[in-house]
Amino acid sequence: MRYPRSKTNAVVFSLAAIIVILLSSFWLYRLSGVSGLLAWNKDYKAIFIGFACLSGLPLILLLLCLIFRSRALNRAATFLSCCLIIICIAGFGALYLIDHSGSHADSLNLIKASETLPIRDGRLHVAFSGDPHWGAGASNTEARAKILDAMAQEDYDLVFMLGDISEIGTVKSNYDEAVSELSQRLGDQKLRVIAGNHDAIAGALPLFSDIFMEDESFFYCMDAGTVHFIVLNVLWDEKDFKSDQKAWLEKTLASIDRKDTVIVLSHSYVLGSGYWDEAAGRYWGDVPGIVEALCPIFEAYDVDLHIGAHNHFMELCQKAGVDYATVGTMGGKLDENLVYESPYSTWKDNAHFGWLDVTIEKGSISLEFIDEDGNVLKSHSIKAD
Ligand SMILES: [Fe+2]
Ligand SMILES: [Fe+2]
Repeated sequence: MRYPRSKTNAVVFSLAAIIVILLSSFWLYRLSGVSGLLAWNKDYKAIFIGFACLSGLPLILLLLCLIFRSRALNRAATFLSCCLIIICIAGFGALYLIDHSGSHADSLNLIKASETLPIRDGRLHVAFSGDPHWGAGASNTEARAKILDAMAQEDYDLVFMLGDISEIGTVKSNYDEAVSELSQRLGDQKLRVIAGNHDAIAGALPLFSDIFMEDESFFYCMDAGTVHFIVLNVLWDEKDFKSDQKAWLEKTLASIDRKDTVIVLSHSYVLGSGYWDEAAGRYWGDVPGIVEALCPIFEAYDVDLHIGAHNHFMELCQKAGVDYATVGTMGGKLDENLVYESPYSTWKDNAHFGWLDVTIEKGSISLEFIDEDGNVLKSHSIKAD
């Protein structure tokens, strides 16, 4: 039996449309920062699911064609499927073709992940802060400038910036602004920059990497004698902590002497208080998945301290012998209405911008949360053996 041409077209184009929509959805979901964005924003999630469900339309029309054998239905299925294919190819093709390459920030003294940090007189002095959000209208540019100027005055062996450098990681001018101000204010201060969820948004990590990194992995270990900084690529939550990163972390921790000082860093905080996140429809704080994924590993391998950002306030938490510091206060709008109080929290402050000053010597880690005017808001000491 010979099929009418309109029916053959309906079958071919409907199946093609279904495949194109599903492949586009999969590709979009796999882009850096997208799965976390969908998990933490109900509206984007609804749009994404709605788009993926569009693949049901050609399927329904195709089934109707096969059942009712109508020439009009065949033509409608072919027309609709062609439209969907063209929209997908044009839209996702444009997204794919966006140039996410950039130039290395040669004006900054960026150190490589493989570099061994020198310990001077048995002492290591490091500064941490995250979430400057260059490019965000709501960021406090004055506080950010004061923090950078104050950091430049100190004898830091290294300044660590813990992500969300940009407001939107696909916008190169955000980074132009960041690099210009960092080089102007920090001078030749040694700097290491890690990525946050805003930097990673919609596949933008290659741009971040080009500017601040040297063809390196996003998770790595930096050593300074018996002090080890383990940097994880956890942007939003446990979905970023996939099996390869987990295996690497456990292997790395297992290779380190238990007496050594181990500080784990990531953009995302691990323990922390938070607010009711309307966009996500849940509390932003002590995210169960990330607590379950990371805390048992830290506890099993005697990690001394985790330092994160992502929360735009300062906090100190403790759980089962491990300390957790959060310092997402480098200029991004401070979080308000902290209605969720973490049971692990021992101190927090959401009224000041600032940074965390860390001194490691003689088996102890001294922490000082410092505000943008140089006032010490909180001191804390950890015995690191
Ligand atoms: Fe942020
Ligand atoms: Fe963030």
